[in-house]
Amino acid sequence: MRILVCGGAGYIGSHTCAVLAERGHELVIADSFVNSSPIVLQRLGEILGKTPLCHRVDLRDRHAVGSLFAGPRFDAVVHFAALKAVGESCARPLAYFDNNICGTIHLLQAMRDAGVGRLVFSSSATVYGDPDSVPVREDAPLRVTNPYGRSKLVTEQLIEDLCQHDPDFRAVNLRYFNPVGAHPSGRIGEDPGGEPSNLMPYISQVAVGRRKRLAVYGGDWPTIDGTGVRDYIHVMDLARAHADALEFMLREDRSATINLGTGRGISVLELVKAFERASGRRVPYRIVDRRVGDVAEVYADPGLALELLGWRAELGVDAMCEDTWRWQRMNPHGYAVPEVASHAEGVLASGITLGDATPVAEEAGCPVLQVSPVTQGPPHPVASSI
Ligand code: UFG
Repeated sequence: MRILVCGGAGYIGSHTCAVLAERGHELVIADSFVNSSPIVLQRLGEILGKTPLCHRVDLRDRHAVGSLFAGPRFDAVVHFAALKAVGESCARPLAYFDNNICGTIHLLQAMRDAGVGRLVFSSSATVYGDPDSVPVREDAPLRVTNPYGRSKLVTEQLIEDLCQHDPDFRAVNLRYFNPVGAHPSGRIGEDPGGEPSNLMPYISQVAVGRRKRLAVYGGDWPTIDGTGVRDYIHVMDLARAHADALEFMLREDRSATINLGTGRGISVLELVKAFERASGRRVPYRIVDRRVGDVAEVYADPGLALELLGWRAELGVDAMCEDTWRWQRMNPHGYAVPEVASHAEGVLASGITLGDATPVAEEAGCPVLQVSPVTQGPPHPVASSI
């Protein structure tokens, strides 16, 4: 299949690109690089032996999104491009609605205009809020608690309406639980900007010496050891599910909304211990007050993924920690290698003009990029990749 991957340079997007390319699909990435690094393209090139074509596009720019579809027809779109920080979404709700909801509407319009009717959408278990019971099934009540969650829920609903009323449109909404881990090569992984707000990147940055100690948010939750319990899922398992979802849509010609988790809850302290075993490093921590908005225990019922996609998580917590540690140890500062990063950014910045795709730039030590039209008007503060 020829597949457009929006947000393909981000954490989950890049791992999914690796899996899709290994299955023989032809990929075109679109990414704004606001929350991802162009170095990812170079790393994907090393892993795959061929660097995927990439367009720099902000999904809020309807014109630029339309121009992505100018070439040979795509068979499907996998859509990761979104802002994803819960705290930031409370501070800037409209930015989240604009990027995540309006950006997706532009994408859906461009797909319709180009006659592309297959979509895999990156959603989140955040749509369940604080569930009444665990494990959480897809038919559990949906009750979001922040603008990020709202943006995912509304986008899911728009997509579902489209599936219902457009006879040529099919989509799979994938609700991720807690993605962690990295590609086994250690060449791509999660690289949060600034202080990580999620647990696994925080633990790995403590282990590698970038941060002093982990703050554990609450030791008095009604859980196995008093700390929060989540369903951590290896990003390679998650990536595989996207390829399976594409094949499901083709095979069965239908749409679905599916949880992606292992079905097993792990506490904060269990994850800390597993990481210490995998890394051989100590991870000092201190138990502090609960974080506002957190819940005690969330884990998936992943039965529908098995039933519809034939998918189940295969990698356990040890592989999650080993692969995270390999990535962190090999890239202690993530993708921030100053000279390569600035060179790659230079390539990205050059020749970006409205409506005028520039030729592929290929030089030693920098990613191969085809820079496509980006927006005119004031610089955009955001648009990123999951
Ligand atoms: N935690 C800590 N210390 C930290 C960070 C997290 O103790 O520094 C704890 C949290 O309290 C929680 C657990 O680790 O118990 C996991 O927290 P994360 O922030 O890693 O993940 P959440 O489950 O809170 O949220 C994640 C994503 C959301 C998504 C949600 C879906 O960040 O975007 O999963 O279930 F919506």
